[in-house]
Amino acid sequence: MTDSKRLWWKDGVIYQIYPRSFQDTNNDGIGDLPGIISRLDYLQQLGIDGIWLSPINPSPDRDFGYDVADYNAIDPKYGTMADFEELLDQAHKRKLHIILDLVLNHTSDQHPWFIESKKSKDNPYHDWYMWRDPKPDGSQPNNWESLFGGGGWVYDRQLNQYYFHMFAPQQPDLNWRNPAVRAAMLDVFRFWLDKGVDGFRLDVFNEYYKHPDYLDLPKRKGFYPRKFEQLEHIYDVSQPEMYPLVRDIRKILDSYPDRYVVGETYLADPAHARTYIGSDRLHAGFDFRYLHSKWGAASFGRAIQYWDALHGEEAWPNYVLNNHDTVRSTTRYKADEADKKTRLLAAMHFTVRGTPYMYYGEEIGMRDITLLPTELQDPVGKRYWPFNKGRDGCRSPMQWDASAFAGFSARKPWIKVHPNYPKRNVAAQVEDPASLLNFYRELIALRRASPALSRGKIDLLPLYNQNLLVYQRAAKHEKLLVVLNFGSKPEQYPLPILENGRWGLIFAGNLPEKSQINGATLHLPAFGFGILKKQV
Ligand code: GLC
Repeated sequence: MTDSKRLWWKDGVIYQIYPRSFQDTNNDGIGDLPGIISRLDYLQQLGIDGIWLSPINPSPDRDFGYDVADYNAIDPKYGTMADFEELLDQAHKRKLHIILDLVLNHTSDQHPWFIESKKSKDNPYHDWYMWRDPKPDGSQPNNWESLFGGGGWVYDRQLNQYYFHMFAPQQPDLNWRNPAVRAAMLDVFRFWLDKGVDGFRLDVFNEYYKHPDYLDLPKRKGFYPRKFEQLEHIYDVSQPEMYPLVRDIRKILDSYPDRYVVGETYLADPAHARTYIGSDRLHAGFDFRYLHSKWGAASFGRAIQYWDALHGEEAWPNYVLNNHDTVRSTTRYKADEADKKTRLLAAMHFTVRGTPYMYYGEEIGMRDITLLPTELQDPVGKRYWPFNKGRDGCRSPMQWDASAFAGFSARKPWIKVHPNYPKRNVAAQVEDPASLLNFYRELIALRRASPALSRGKIDLLPLYNQNLLVYQRAAKHEKLLVVLNFGSKPEQYPLPILENGRWGLIFAGNLPEKSQINGATLHLPAFGFGILKKQV
């Protein structure tokens, strides 16, 4: 495939950076934009096409950037607008695209709109948020809850009203039914598009609209310890007004060349998430069944089959194994130190039909850190520890080298570095031809060079046994077979018969123990895999 025909968000790989934790250059212990710029060559060599930045707008960090105090500015802790323009420019020079995270369901309680909105009921900004009167007995307006716990409503004595927040109390939800809010938000898209940003990730976007009558949510059947899960979320999420809105967002994006928007659906199953994707809607949405899959061929196979079938020919899936809200896949699946299981997952992740997303440090096999209760930073962990330890574990500093603080910063970072950094770091892995990092590079390069892998259709073959996940990928002049052994024992797989041609093994990884073809059988070591190509 020539580069000119490539569609970056479709054929390429997207890499998520959590800016606080990627690279610090001013030694305040927090990552910054100049730090990201200094690592663009590294990212280019990895072979990715797009970078999704978790929020970089000014934020009091009650939810680390997901509480925005100004949509059209850069938080000084990350740098200046000039730094951001430099990042865009330097990224574009390397054919890397920049995706910004837009958090438009709620603002920070420090946003000037909310500060105004609290002043009085007749303030022009009052109706920008979800203010409601108490019930006659003074209690909260309805039974809605916050996902982060502690009730969904906060009482304001001066106004004698409550405001609603789906997340932390410092993240008041906006009233998207107010046309001024809708218009202001669409202007946020235009502002960043005009700067040259390539795309957006929409945070919990199907949460923007709530039912206009604020009806009580019905109770769910079954036992759930948390109040939030005890409710059927039919009025506080996924309201029909979202469809015209995604169409309007898409129209704005389509008025600029090659732009992209991906949405994070909230409390929605894959079939519902799919309804927001299409040529007049979002380009893509996230699927969390794959990310939440248990280890095993059948479980991953089902998630892929379902998500792929939902997309069909008309849309393009994407896949995520790691992000800033989830325990890293290495920790989740109890990865071995030789990274055999991690390589197997990657072999699947980069060969399914769809855009692979990666999360910083995934390529060197970073693990979650373990925090003491006093070290917790995430509001979720602070509230629910030890039942839910929060999301700090996957947000530790990027491990660049074996120097103090892993080369992330010259001083103590905002969150601790994983103690395995002296061994597990970029500098060490660059040098080692058999490292996980070099495995990722080879795999991404293979995907890039192969029309079947980057664009072709996928056919999952019937489950041969509980351990083997097998699928074919095919483009016009290329047919591939991918065989993945999720088992801890060697396996044999009889290769499908080809009428004209034979299967040749084109990739089995960079560890000494590899899969091999013997006659018409593929022999796979424990957690081994093979990518085979039809040869004529
Ligand atoms: C999304 C983000 C998460 C954040 C929440 C509220 O789920 O991924 O990090 O806490 O929205 O903005």
